[in-house]
Amino acid sequence: MQKQPIRIAVTGAAGNIGYALLFRIASGQMFGPDQPVALNLIEIEPALDALRGVVMELDDCAFPLLTEIVQTADLQEGFRDCDWALLVGSVPRKKGMERADLLGINGKIFVGQGKAINDNAKNSCQTVVVGNPCNTNCLIAMTSAPDIPDSQFFAMTRLDENRARSQLAQKAGVPVADVTDVCVWGNHSPTMFPDFFNAKISRKRATDVISDEAWLKETFVPKVGKRGAEIIAARGASSAASAANAVVDTVRDLVNPVRGEFHSVCVPSRGEYGAPEGIITSMPVKVDAVGNWRVVEGIELNDYAREKIAASNAELVEERRIAFEHLGIQG
Ligand code: NAD
Ligand code: LMR
Repeated sequence: MQKQPIRIAVTGAAGNIGYALLFRIASGQMFGPDQPVALNLIEIEPALDALRGVVMELDDCAFPLLTEIVQTADLQEGFRDCDWALLVGSVPRKKGMERADLLGINGKIFVGQGKAINDNAKNSCQTVVVGNPCNTNCLIAMTSAPDIPDSQFFAMTRLDENRARSQLAQKAGVPVADVTDVCVWGNHSPTMFPDFFNAKISRKRATDVISDEAWLKETFVPKVGKRGAEIIAARGASSAASAANAVVDTVRDLVNPVRGEFHSVCVPSRGEYGAPEGIITSMPVKVDAVGNWRVVEGIELNDYAREKIAASNAELVEERRIAFEHLGIQG
């Protein structure tokens, strides 16, 4: 018997990431080759024509797994009965801006979307926030959806993990698949910490394979943290295909505990590794069974790592203060 479709709401569906993401969801790359999907595509009114064009293209792919497409600017309709909410829609930064500069522009979007998820989505709905600054936007959405368990809210740092793995692989001259156990900690901002101390290259400690600690600290860490800006400078637009790929990776690995590895995901802190409680911060997350994730315990962090992570988390506390004050949210 055919499985029931999973209903996925995607905001900003006519944008650049949306254009790289929808086809991969519909083709089965996110939920698997035998899992039907229904797409609820949400856009602002002025982008509904463009969205209609994207939907024509989805139709023209004749994806066997795609059972239904809803196109709407209405949040209630858009999030109705959804199992997953992928919150992409928001303004990307331009050259010279930091992601936090978007807080005033994008933050309010996530109040309305959080409320609409709360009131319309399934109670089991899982939300992944991509729109920047994604950690704090996720916190805003989560706070605006009090009936949905906090453990069902995530923000995306998988792109940063993928970037880190790729940089380490290139430096070591190994295939990227040989680089594992890379956790990016903290905020999706230049302060994030890609933990090279615990990373493995061909099952050895990365620091044994790449002994140039100065490169790791002074080139690798900032390179990963500022990769988004490097792409904006080169492309004139923020990363889109790699971001969509990371959304696919994030959801696929939250749904499917196939490899038993941990991955970097921003989750609500309960004080793990000394993180301030209540912020949405990136940690190593392992999925033991569907819908059952946990922060991996027992990772050893030296003073350098602890300092870096604490600085990134302090930035998140400050972002929360600014956002909540601006939006009139009681923290
Ligand atoms: P884009 O400008 O190409 O597309 C954004 C889309 O969102 C547009 O179609 C716009 O109409 C729509 N939109 C705006 N406000 C909306 C709202 N209130 N409801 C629904 N839709 C809305 O931008 P993009 O390149 O697709 O990037 C989207 C966001 O993702 C940006 O904030 C960007 O900074 C962020 N991003 C995050 C990561 C990450 O790793 N977390 C990576 C890349 C990009
Ligand atoms: C990225 O990391 O590529 C995105 O967050 C976009 C940006 O503004 O850097």
